[in-house]
Amino acid sequence: MQDESRILHRDLRVAPPVAVRAAGLWIEDEAGNRYADACGGAAVSCLGHAHPAVVEAVRDQVGRLDYVHTAFFSNQAAEDLASVMLTDAPPGLAHIYFVSGGSEAVEAALKLARQHFVERGEPERTRFIARRQSYHGNTLGALSVGGNMARRLVYDPILMPAAHVEPCFAYRFRRDDETEEEYGLRAAASLEAEILRHPPGTVAAFLAETVVGATAGSVPAVPGYFRRIREICDRHGVLLILDEVMCGMGRCGTLHACTAEGIAPDILVVAKGLGAGVQPIGALLATAAVVAPLRSGSGSFQHGHTYLSHPVACAAALAVQRVLREGLIDRVAPMGALLAEALTERFGNHPHVGDIRGRGLFWSIELVADRATKRPFDPALGLAARVRESAMARGLLVYPMGGTIDGRMGDHVTLAPPFTVTEEELAMIVARLGEAVEAAVGEAIGVVGAP
Ligand SMILES: Cc1ncc(COP(=O)(O)O)c(C=O)c1O
Repeated sequence: MQDESRILHRDLRVAPPVAVRAAGLWIEDEAGNRYADACGGAAVSCLGHAHPAVVEAVRDQVGRLDYVHTAFFSNQAAEDLASVMLTDAPPGLAHIYFVSGGSEAVEAALKLARQHFVERGEPERTRFIARRQSYHGNTLGALSVGGNMARRLVYDPILMPAAHVEPCFAYRFRRDDETEEEYGLRAAASLEAEILRHPPGTVAAFLAETVVGATAGSVPAVPGYFRRIREICDRHGVLLILDEVMCGMGRCGTLHACTAEGIAPDILVVAKGLGAGVQPIGALLATAAVVAPLRSGSGSFQHGHTYLSHPVACAAALAVQRVLREGLIDRVAPMGALLAEALTERFGNHPHVGDIRGRGLFWSIELVADRATKRPFDPALGLAARVRESAMARGLLVYPMGGTIDGRMGDHVTLAPPFTVTEEELAMIVARLGEAVEAAVGEAIGVVGAP
């Protein structure tokens, strides 16, 4: 069956197993193997699989109103979802735009920022600044602002220009003689230095993941960093776009990750947990001030797709968002604390785990060849891929990635279990991860002799 697949799978040489059903934490393949989905795919399935309220909402919507084009109609599912999302949005966010995923939402955010400045008479604001070791999606605009060097490499010559400043990644880049706060201010200062390198009034927006996701492995900023970023953006008239595609929608314990930082962006981008994977959906939220020049100017956002505000996607997301707000988000912080405790117990003294970091139910371990010096494994060993395979062989899905430090060096493994996860399931996940890491690291060390 798999040998016959004509799909361009991620690996063009080996087709993945075919999944046939999923419920709660578990996914089953056609051979009857069961996998504990401890990463929700890519931090997507925040309700677990096949949540009955969401399944019912999709059935109901598709039978009543399957699709309408936004050139002709709005639909009630989208209108209701907008109301829910804007009721408890970060301060100032007043408008919402529904697309089909994270990359589309980032593209829309970049274009909205650009059009905002054109319509308010500052067309020379054309530059975007983002951070190294970030990811904002795989379409050309989103890839251009992303700082994931491995994903950019092939496309570099055809990407639009964007500048990349320092990430806020304390384990790797804080100096020993700095407090966390001092480090955060230094990292933020790299944004101001970059803005000042250009003629005044030419930078449109700065983009950052509030908690860095896949590229560096669930890295929260140090206290004070984002407050300083907000000040710098305000001082220079630069829009702040926060990408919470992965870390938002409750994943880090608060509905929006920026709440924990005490700031609000001008444009917020969400996806993944918005529809919990049941339907593809993403959104951007923008302040009235961002949209105002368009309203009083041309009267339209010069953008659009066929599936904007898709009724079935919005109905699924509406059901997801109701479940989250009916109390499920309140489980994230306490269950996350249990996960952190279990990871610390299992890996806290592990010779090849240099850092255990995260927030809410979004945690990663960073694997190192030498814990004292933080020396990473040789990237040629492909440790991240080994961990994914050895975890899968043990019935566990985790999200490992290489290139943690600079796009080439470093390996981490990220966990993003559903918010419905139980204490027993967390213990099982950490135990299986422990076995998978031992096997993969053992194999890697075996390849090179000593690490
Ligand atoms: C922070 C962030 N932004 C944007 C994206 C792109 O989202 P999508 O894959 O839905 O296009 C991702 C996907 O992993 C992400 O993690």
